[in-house]
Amino acid sequence: MKKVLVTGGLGFIGSHTAVELLARGYQVIVADNLSNTRPEVLDGIEAITGKRPIWANVDLADPAACRAFLAGHPDLDGIIHFAASKAVGESVQKPLLYYHNNLGSLCNLLEHLAAHPKCAFIFSSSCTVYGQADELPIRENAPVKPAESPYGNTKQIGEEILRDGAKAHGFRAIALRYFNPIGAHPSAKIGELPLGVPQNLVPFITQSAAGLRGGLKVFGNDYPTADGTCVRDYIHVVDVALAHIYAMERMIEGKGTEPVEVFNLGTGKGSTVVEVIAAFERATGKKLQWEFAPRRPGDVIAAYADTQKAAQVLGWKAERTLDQSMADAWRWQQSLPTTAK
Ligand code: WQD
Repeated sequence: MKKVLVTGGLGFIGSHTAVELLARGYQVIVADNLSNTRPEVLDGIEAITGKRPIWANVDLADPAACRAFLAGHPDLDGIIHFAASKAVGESVQKPLLYYHNNLGSLCNLLEHLAAHPKCAFIFSSSCTVYGQADELPIRENAPVKPAESPYGNTKQIGEEILRDGAKAHGFRAIALRYFNPIGAHPSAKIGELPLGVPQNLVPFITQSAAGLRGGLKVFGNDYPTADGTCVRDYIHVVDVALAHIYAMERMIEGKGTEPVEVFNLGTGKGSTVVEVIAAFERATGKKLQWEFAPRRPGDVIAAYADTQKAAQVLGWKAERTLDQSMADAWRWQQSLPTTAK
């Protein structure tokens, strides 16, 4: 049985990936220090799969703690690294925390990889590295633009650390650049658990529809797009999770063609904010209260993925629709307590 470490495995994408790994017979170790999630996610993973992953509450940004933890797992076949702080706005307020946490944990894990170069390594990156791309859809060889936030910068620097580390130490890695992961597992046993007021569009929509928040504010309606609102590539979190299995198995089977391969994870379809609202109302029958508000600083006008490389090289493509994502997100929201946190 192959053994895989999922860091941040109690988080949004990490928990959905742990479910897909367990369903395929992998032994799963989850490392998560609960900085942005709750331990009950383990119960949700078990409820779906009938298996409970081993969970280590470890701060991977602490070199000694990370080293001691990994010393107990010299036989890992793969590491899927999700653990990171990921709130764009918070990263502007607390850049040192973001650089320490996101880059420190990555470097500590890569020390293990340098000593165990056969271990597959999948890095959670982001379409944020492209900034406002010059061409749409965005291809993997599009230029990386100066980051708009310390969070985005940690993803850009993270990819550079992978490349420099692979060159010096002979390990390999795959970086997956997520577009906008949304939705929840159709069982409604796991999903997105934003702590505090959601910064992202879809969890704000579901909390507003559940009466936990006021009406949705749509940030800007004067962009050069079909209806004046920003365009994003919203991809179901289960599709994103499955891509990690494809990427890891590509590495375990030694099929990589360069030390660090990069793939976009998107649907290839852009949707405006107003189209997302319409999809939510169509998929759930719920009427959403919303109004236009001023633009949000740092927002790019439009971003959606060129999906050819992931399809041709990974053999993966997104299967779920925007409406399915909305229905699954709403079913998950309805399973949560009705008191705002
Ligand atoms: C989407 C659109 C907003 C909230 C960020 C990170 C990215 C990834 C996903 C971590 C934008 C609009 C939003 C609201 C709104 N995070 N919006 N009202 O900014 O594309 O991506 O989150 O990996 O790295 O950059 O996602 O969901 O915040 O915004 O109008 O209350 O919805 O202006 O156009 P974003 P988002």
